[in-house]
Amino acid sequence: MTNTETTTRGAVVIRGGLVVDRTGERRADVAVSADGCIAEVAAEIDPHGAPVLDAAGCVVAPGFVDLHTHLRQPGKEEAETIESGAWCAVTGGYTAVVAMPNTTPPIDSAAVVREVLELGRAALCDVYTTGAITEGRAGERLAPLAEMADLGVRMFTDDGTGVQDDRLMRRAFEYARGLGVTLAQHCEVDALAAGGHMHEGEWSARLGIPGQPAESEDLMVARDLLLAERTGAPAHFQHLSTARSVAMVREAKARGLAVTAEATTHHFTLTHAACASYDPVFKVNPPLRTDEDVAAVRAGLADGTIDVIATDHAPHTQESKELPFDQAPPGMLGLETALALALTELDLPLVRLVELLSSRPAEIGRMADRHGGPIAAGRPANLCVFDPQTRWTVEPAKSRSRSRNIPYAGREVRGRVRHTLVDGRPVLVDGELRP
Ligand code: DOR
Repeated sequence: MTNTETTTRGAVVIRGGLVVDRTGERRADVAVSADGCIAEVAAEIDPHGAPVLDAAGCVVAPGFVDLHTHLRQPGKEEAETIESGAWCAVTGGYTAVVAMPNTTPPIDSAAVVREVLELGRAALCDVYTTGAITEGRAGERLAPLAEMADLGVRMFTDDGTGVQDDRLMRRAFEYARGLGVTLAQHCEVDALAAGGHMHEGEWSARLGIPGQPAESEDLMVARDLLLAERTGAPAHFQHLSTARSVAMVREAKARGLAVTAEATTHHFTLTHAACASYDPVFKVNPPLRTDEDVAAVRAGLADGTIDVIATDHAPHTQESKELPFDQAPPGMLGLETALALALTELDLPLVRLVELLSSRPAEIGRMADRHGGPIAAGRPANLCVFDPQTRWTVEPAKSRSRSRNIPYAGREVRGRVRHTLVDGRPVLVDGELRP
């Protein structure tokens, strides 16, 4: 940043970047005013003494939105806190994250929703939360969705597990439709996945690790498509990982169903072969799958079947990830590497990438008033600036998370976030946090 250094909110000009939002690309400067909104987007803006953020060679995009973040608070603060999760988020260009409910206690009541939102207010980015669909995420009785919806919760999920009971899920869809909220499903049929620690296939057989078959995901996707169709409620599919489930969602969309889907960065960059090292850093749910599945996820991201790139940022302490493969918890970090992996591994136009990382998740999470663009005067200045060409090597030790479970150690990637602004406040400047 040049001119007067500032870490608080004030007028600032982002100079020399390529502005990309879902409306297209144009070379422009962006002026942000002291009220936290975009004041002007024009070819050249005189900063009149305001601080300048250099964006030469960079893309200026609406800040990213992660619909799938495990922040671990309350209950597992040794792995992550809302504060440290938000540090990872803004490092990765995210201006909003949506917390998953598998905390201790779970986010299944107004009291816990309030606690998470309250802690979120002090975080560097916007923190939204999901609420659990069932009490205690136990899959037996519906959680008090209405009281959580009254506090602004717009997505409900039992993430970490799927809702197994068909009848209960149908009721949840009916109820959600009445409330105007979205149900997001972790698609996994326990009866098929139980006891498995990786994808069931060639590699699980070779390694002697019990597997989880693809059908465990496919069956629940199929059921929820039927229930969503029957009830007319919107359904969001979390972390799709199989070719069959991508195909089913594609077909459902073609028939006009109100369904949306996300894929994680690890499901388009890694396969089950990574488990050959027996390193639990590669253990995740749903598991890393086959080359064909990865190709299907990539195709789904390209053709619009999959609406969103999500991280499923799932911090776990080093001790727990040093346990043997079958005992270690599933999950990997994702917020700090998502953009680079998408740029490096997906050959997509920037406009599509911005849709996947920002505009669509903002719409699905019902926060499009604040996030997801367009980059235009009067809009809240929730923005990120990234250099799409910079190459860097992933080093888990440098993560801002409290955990280190990044499965890309040593991998060279392309694309790095330089600046992130939340409500006009530069919270990341030249890669450095400005808390
Ligand atoms: O790998 C995963 N980790 N998948 C999940 O569904 C839950 C998550 C976690 O909370 O660690």
